[in-house]
Amino acid sequence: MTTQIHVHVFPTSEEVAAAAAERIATVVREKPTCVLGLATGSTPEATYGKMIELYHQGLDFSRVSTFNLDEYAGLQCDHPQSYRAFMEERLFRHLNLRPWNTHVLNGTTQFPALECAAYEQQIQARGGVDLWLLGIGQNGHIAFNEPGSPLDSRTRVVALTPSTIAANSDGRFFADPKDVPRSALTAGIGTIREARQLVLLATGQKKAEAVARALKGDFSVDCPASLLQDHRDCTFLLDEAAASLLKS
Ligand code: PGA
Repeated sequence: MTTQIHVHVFPTSEEVAAAAAERIATVVREKPTCVLGLATGSTPEATYGKMIELYHQGLDFSRVSTFNLDEYAGLQCDHPQSYRAFMEERLFRHLNLRPWNTHVLNGTTQFPALECAAYEQQIQARGGVDLWLLGIGQNGHIAFNEPGSPLDSRTRVVALTPSTIAANSDGRFFADPKDVPRSALTAGIGTIREARQLVLLATGQKKAEAVARALKGDFSVDCPASLLQDHRDCTFLLDEAAASLLKS
C-alpha cells in the first residue's frame, strides 16, 4: 500500500513538540469544544510543556474534552506510574480543563469489559475524537496495541509484550521489570483510526526502525503503526534521528 501519511522531519525533538502543540492549538481555536486524544510516555512530555505555554498565552481548554489511549491494569489512579497520574502531573493540572472532561480508562475496575465498552460510548457521545496524539513503540505498537492486534480492534484488555515491559522499566518509569503490570486497558486500532486527525510523534534513534516499518513497510498487523497508512489525515512528526532510516 502507498502510504497517505504526511511526514515532517525537524532538526530537534523540541521542534517536534512545538509543531505538535501548534497542531493541537489549531484544533482548539477552530473548535473550542473539541475532543483531543492524548498519549503517555516520554515522547509527548515536551508537547505537553508547549501546550502549557500556549495556555499561559491565552489558549482556552475550558470546553475541551480529552481521552487517553490506555492505562495499566491493576494500578490505582493515584499510583505514581498510573497514566491518570502521569496526565494529571504533566498536563491536566496545569490547564483549565474541567476534570469531568478528562477521561482515562480505570485500571482497577472490577468490570473491565464494561469499562472498555463505556469508554467507546463516551467517545461517541462527545462526537468522536478530533485529533489523537500518538507515540510509537520500538516494536511498532500504538497505545498498547501490540503486534498482531487486529485492524478493527476496539477498547479492550490486552497483555503487554516482554519488549514493552522492558522498554517501560529502563529506569524512566518503573525501576524493575517485575513492577510493570502485565496487562492494560487500551483503545483499539479501530478506535484510534476513527479519529478525524492523527498526529504520531517519534524522536530518537531507538524509534527509527519502527518509523521506517510504519511508513515504508507492509500494511500489516505485524507493525500496528503501519495500519495508519490509509488514514485520511495522519501526520508523523519526527526528529532527524527517528527519521534516519527513511532516506534510502
Ligand atoms: P515512549 O513510548 O514515548 O515512552 O517512547 C511510546 C510508546 O510506547 O507508545
